[in-house]
Amino acid sequence: MKPAAADTGPTVTSSVAVYAENLLTSGPVSAPAAPVGRTAADRPADLIQPTATKGALALELKKHATARALAGDPGDEREYPMYPAELTSPYLDRFSAAAAQRYKALGIERDDPDRPKKIATLNSEAFGAPVVLFCYLHRTMGPGQWGDAGMYLQTVMLLLRAEGLHSCPQVMWTMYRKTVSRIVGAADTLALFCGVSVGFEKEDVPRLRTERADMTETVSFIGA
Ligand SMILES: Cc1cc2nc3c(=O)[nH]c(=O)nc-3n(C[C@H](O)[C@H](O)[C@H](O)COP(=O)(O)O)c2cc1C
Repeated sequence: MKPAAADTGPTVTSSVAVYAENLLTSGPVSAPAAPVGRTAADRPADLIQPTATKGALALELKKHATARALAGDPGDEREYPMYPAELTSPYLDRFSAAAAQRYKALGIERDDPDRPKKIATLNSEAFGAPVVLFCYLHRTMGPGQWGDAGMYLQTVMLLLRAEGLHSCPQVMWTMYRKTVSRIVGAADTLALFCGVSVGFEKEDVPRLRTERADMTETVSFIGA
């Protein structure tokens, strides 16, 4: 099955949609050519099914997702909860602090009435990245395999660093999972775990390292 090529959804000009500074950019190295005929739909039933979109297909994807973000679309029914319904302390505190730091650095203040829309469009523009990887899992896979998928993506992200690239995992793509699946041609047997934006770091954007909880807070050392 080929990815859907027809432009059936709403359109929006990308440059108008971006409210804040993007983080990632195309660099001197172009993405490798996709193996012929490899889409999320016609692959054998691998445990983890990554699909990389680039070029016109990535632009098409961003255009449709951004149109939905700008329209205030609450997104498709989620296939799995992004976060627990009752996110308690200290997780909620850490989550809020990291989000506030990250978006403040991009010029989006907490009290900005357009904050949700601005955040959604930054995400739907893949932070400016030219390549977006989507990680699907076969629906029969359980929590153990979802853990495997996290490890897999971490490895991909580390290998990208070794190549001089940066990346950002984005669970937000699950909000627009039907748009993504239509454009990448994913089979109904697959569930979208998340997207990963890939590009070269933009040098002129303020650098931010989100805070990390101290190891003594996060690890219990037991035994003599
Ligand atoms: C699985 C996963 C999904 C994430 N989804 C999003 C997302 O949708 N949008 C976003 O802005 N950050 C998301 N994040 C957080 C960022 O990708 C990133 O991890 C965070 O900004 C910390 O970056 P740093 O380690 O470079 O400071 C996600 C992180 C993970 C691990």
